[in-house]
Order: sequence, then C-alpha cells, then structure tokens
Amino acid sequence: MRNIYSSRPYAAITAIGGYLPQERRTNFDLEQVCDTSDEWIIKRTGIKERRILEAGLATSDMAVMAIHDLCTRYNKDVADVDAIIVATSTPDVLMPATANIIAQKLNLNNVWAFDMNAACSGFLYALDMGASLVETERYKNVLIVGADNISAFVNIHDRSTNILFGDGAGVIWLEPSAEEGIIDAFMQSNGDGRDFLNIEGGGSLYPTSEKPFNQERSYLKQDGKVVFKQAVQSMSNACKSILERNQLGIEAVDWLIPHQANKRIIDAVGKDINIQKNKTLTNIEYRGNTIAATIPLCIWENIKQIQKGDLLMLTAFGAGFSWGASLLRWMI
Ligand code: COA
Repeated sequence: MRNIYSSRPYAAITAIGGYLPQERRTNFDLEQVCDTSDEWIIKRTGIKERRILEAGLATSDMAVMAIHDLCTRYNKDVADVDAIIVATSTPDVLMPATANIIAQKLNLNNVWAFDMNAACSGFLYALDMGASLVETERYKNVLIVGADNISAFVNIHDRSTNILFGDGAGVIWLEPSAEEGIIDAFMQSNGDGRDFLNIEGGGSLYPTSEKPFNQERSYLKQDGKVVFKQAVQSMSNACKSILERNQLGIEAVDWLIPHQANKRIIDAVGKDINIQKNKTLTNIEYRGNTIAATIPLCIWENIKQIQKGDLLMLTAFGAGFSWGASLLRWMI
C-alpha cells in the first residue's frame, strides 16, 4: 500500500499490446487424440478452443509481436524502453533470459532486462516489480511482458492438461505519473504446490543430459482438483485482503480481471468476493489458460469496455503455489 506522504510518482500503464498465434486447437481436435468431448470440456472449463504457436517459433517471438502491436496502437517508440521484465515459465532457452532475446530482436542495446518465473502469477509479480522500478525514479519506461508457449510442454494425449492450455503474449508499458496508476499489490507464495502443478524435466534436478531421460518429466503435470480448490481460495483471499487494506468495498471495483484458468474458478472467485457478474472480464472461451499472458491479454481483448479512471482489480494463481491481487487505476 502506498505511503500517503510519498512524493514519488505513481507508475501508470500508458499502453497495452497483445499477440495470439493463428492456429486454433478446438475441443473437436482434442476429441481426435484422447477420450474427451466438446460437451464435457465446455461444461467443466468453459473453454472451446486455444491458440497454438507454430513449431520453430518460441515465447520471444510472441512477445516481440505483442510489443510491436503496442507500439503501433499507442504510437510508442521501443527505443525509449529502459527495462523489460518478462514473466514466463516457458523461456526460449534456459540461458540467456528470454528478455535478452527480446532485446536483441528489438535492437535494444542498453536495456535492463530479465525473466521472472512465477508461473501463472508471473504477470502480477512482474507488474509489481516494474511499478516499483518506476516509483524509485530510476527507470522511466518499463515493459512488462507476460508470455508463454505452454503448448510446447503439454502432452497432447493427456486430457487432464490438454483441454486447458494455450499460447499467447501480452505486454503493458509503465511510466511515471502524477495521477494514480498502480495503487497496490498483494503477492504471496509457498511451496505447497510443488507436487500438484509442475514441469520437472530439463532443470538441474532432472537434466536432459540424464541417461535415460524420462520424457514424461518434460510435460506439464497437475492434480486438477487440488489446484482448483487452492486457486479459488487464494484468489478470493487476495482480493479481499487488498480491498480491505485500501479501505475499499467491492462496489468500488469497476472491473475484475482474474487469471483465466477455468471458467468455474472465475465464477467461484466472483461469487466469493461478491462482485456483480457483469464486472468480471474474461476471454477464456477462445484462449484457454495462457499462463503469464492471461491477464494482459484479457485486458487487451476487452479494452473497449474499460474507461479512463476505472478501478481494476487483477488476481492470479499459479504453480508454487503463487498468487496475488493488484489494484490499479486505468489511465489510458
Ligand atoms: N474429458 C472427459 N472426461 C474427463 C476429463 C476430460 N478431459 N477429465 C476428467 N474426466 C472425467 C474423470 O475421469 C471423472 O470421471 P468419473 O466421474 O467417471 O470418475 C470426471 O470426468 C470428473 O473428473 P475430475 O478430475 O473430478 O474433473 P474436474 O471437474 O476436477 O475437472 C479439471 C478437471 C482439470 C478441468 C479441473 O480440475 C481444473 O480445471 N482444475 C484446475 C486446473 C488449473 O486451473 N490449472 C492451472 C492453474 S494456474
């Protein structure tokens, strides 16, 4: 929460961009590769299709497209960028950071750039970090990217995961502002989720050099029921906590933008925090769960509904477990 005596600027979002790959993976496509049905998937998740990045491209390619989209829409010059934080769990390669690869593709030579892995909470974590950089006045133009090529880690034959996930990238531009922008961020995590939501292979514990390498470990695994319950509880609590410490009631919130994991999770959080149904923004039906990209993409796709001055509450939950909520005033 902001110190009212602070003379420092706010960090405000001044531009937003996004990118979605062309290829669609529909529920009917999944019916062909595993024992599932369009009807079951829609009923249990609210998802009809997801976008899938073509082979040979990676997370940085989507991020660069999203940044180009932002620059075109809002007439921004990427050469002005001082810092890039990339929230992703699916970097192009283990080293260097995807943020460096993006800097190279954008021809940025002196930029402060790194990746942050907080899974599906990554965008909110990175937004908090980026806002802090702007508030210190050491950085003026900060890009926060949420991008994941999660399809590269989904076993197409595993119906416990293939129904949920899709690829995409979203990005926002942060700048100092005398008016209210990012108001508060409430972020938490623990290690309770390790066994319930993970991709284990390819790290230092199970390196791909291990012989024989267990291919199964390179896929995303989850215990859907445990994750579902934790997600609802954690996002609801984060929303309630951030409202309470800012002395705001739920009626003050113009838009709730929740992580898009499952429509039933979104509805349960909305019910628990008692927000009017038409104040929750979604895009899960045609995008699925795009990990760190869900929140910026959901704002980007619903941008026509959001007015300057609206109060937005963002909330996310992901592997770790990690979770949180942010409050911000929309200033575009
Ligand atoms: N298609 C058809 N049937 C399926 C199925 C699928 N893809 N997955 C499970 N089933 C069946 C089960 O076998 C079970 O059948 P049974 O009743 O005959 O035993 C039944 O449907 C219910 O299975 P269950 O695992 O209880 O389903 P669920 O309602 O929990 O839905 C998820 C499964 C994965 C959709 C749900 O748990 C979920 O979304 N969890 C959260 C995951 C998440 O958000 N992860 C990312 C967090 S950032």
